[in-house]
Amino acid sequence: MTQLAPSILAADFGHLASEVQACEQAGAQRLHVDVMDNHFVPNLTMGPDVVAACRRACRLPIEVHLMVERPDGILPAFVAAGAGLLTVHYEACPQLHRSVELVRRQGARVGVGINPATPVASLVDILPEVDLALVMSVDPGFGGQDLLPSSLGKVRRLVRLLEEMRLSCEVELDGGVDAANAAECARAGATVLVAGTAVFHAEGGTGAGVTCLLERLRGASGGAA
Ligand code: DX5
Ligand code: ZN
Repeated sequence: MTQLAPSILAADFGHLASEVQACEQAGAQRLHVDVMDNHFVPNLTMGPDVVAACRRACRLPIEVHLMVERPDGILPAFVAAGAGLLTVHYEACPQLHRSVELVRRQGARVGVGINPATPVASLVDILPEVDLALVMSVDPGFGGQDLLPSSLGKVRRLVRLLEEMRLSCEVELDGGVDAANAAECARAGATVLVAGTAVFHAEGGTGAGVTCLLERLRGASGGAA
């Protein structure tokens, strides 16, 4: 079944521990931490200390989405803080292969992300080196945006490319995922869905938001666990 990664960017930071615990108790499989540097994207968010706070608050695997120009220097601090997977952006890393290797040398899993206008084909030479490929379904920088419908075609193209290359790599869709489109995103081939607003701004609270999305994903996989 497709996994759910709540993005804490949309969480109430005055109650971050209880928010991530609600995600864990409701069955989310991992936490998604959006790191932004106000250079690669027009927003500034959080650093390794927030990852460490999430690490203290729950046992969920933590993935860090680095929307950061030239992230090499900051990678070790996120792993030391408890991140198990670091995703860097194709567009932000002039030496992408070196950045991917650097994450591996820190002992973490590694992902590569592409923005809406970046073709899936751009990833062909790095896909053999990564554990996850992230397709942005919104322009990066902010939560609460609508999913770009064209991103589902990108997910399908990425899945086909991975099949052709005989690679097994997670396919993550990030941005604008909600209860209305989650099943379709899963059927397109995404193995991980990121959701911020649909989880942390859900009617009935964070736990209900996670439960609702997981129900949609179970339905999309024919009820499999
Ligand atoms: C946007 C981030 C996404 C975003 C998801 O740049 O990468 O992870 O926080 O939030 P929603 O689900 O509200 O679009
Ligand atoms: Zn993200």
